[in-house]
Amino acid sequence: MPQIIDGKAISGAIKDELKNKVEELKAEGIHICLAVIQVGSDPASSVYVGNKKKACAYIGIDSLAYELPAETTQEELLALVGELNARKDVNGILVQLPLPKHINEDEVIRAIDPRKDVDGFHPQSVGALCIGQPGFVSCTPAGIIQLLKRSGIEIAGRECVVIGRSNIVGKPMALLLLRENGTVTVTHSRTKDLKEVTRRADILVVAIGRPKMITREYVKEGAVVIDVGIHRDENNKLCGDVDYDDVAPVCSAITPVPGGVGPMTVAMLMYNCVESVLLQ
Ligand code: GUN
Repeated sequence: MPQIIDGKAISGAIKDELKNKVEELKAEGIHICLAVIQVGSDPASSVYVGNKKKACAYIGIDSLAYELPAETTQEELLALVGELNARKDVNGILVQLPLPKHINEDEVIRAIDPRKDVDGFHPQSVGALCIGQPGFVSCTPAGIIQLLKRSGIEIAGRECVVIGRSNIVGKPMALLLLRENGTVTVTHSRTKDLKEVTRRADILVVAIGRPKMITREYVKEGAVVIDVGIHRDENNKLCGDVDYDDVAPVCSAITPVPGGVGPMTVAMLMYNCVESVLLQ
């Protein structure tokens, strides 16, 4: 049977390390504060925002929660971001996505001070990652690198295939694997003969957003499989983009859903909040 990569345990260890770091900073009189903005009441977003606030409380980071009505205008949201940019007591600013359709997401992300961009979504953060300079890194792909490293999985020199090219996961994932000296291929909905490409992967990162799409025909014997998806299946059970029961027997290591990649996103957000103080 494969190694089950335990995201719950690894994220717990990271959060405990950060808790100690935050205590040390507090002893020096340094407090960390994260502002979290949610517009509207999308139920999934409310769960994510709740998890972020809980993690802040556990680690000792102050959180400011802004729950704005769905009809909030672009100007009102930009004004709030501007106000938080100017506040010396606010270290990190996170605008939960997706935003309501009448709001221009790109413009809101660009309005966040890059020194407070703990999501790593600002074009300056993405550019810094691309050219190997310091800056905030998108939390989910950064968490996947931690999962691999802390599970003793070598990246350097190995064939890494990423399925999905989103700005939040696929693209930064490819850049991070490249930074770790992997040989990286990015595939997407227009890739021809996807199975032929994914079967080359020593490390396969799946972020396509389609429940249980990846079966064993896509996976080389002994590959490491990382599943970013989260869905409910026909029995209302949580599942990923990978058909776990079908794939697990042929791979060397795999992330479960839930308890794999999911908990790492919040842990890396907390890591970025601690980093924000060091950057500022
Ligand atoms: N929506 C889904 N994932 C994320 C995330 O990592 N950050 C923000 N701000 N919104 C999201």
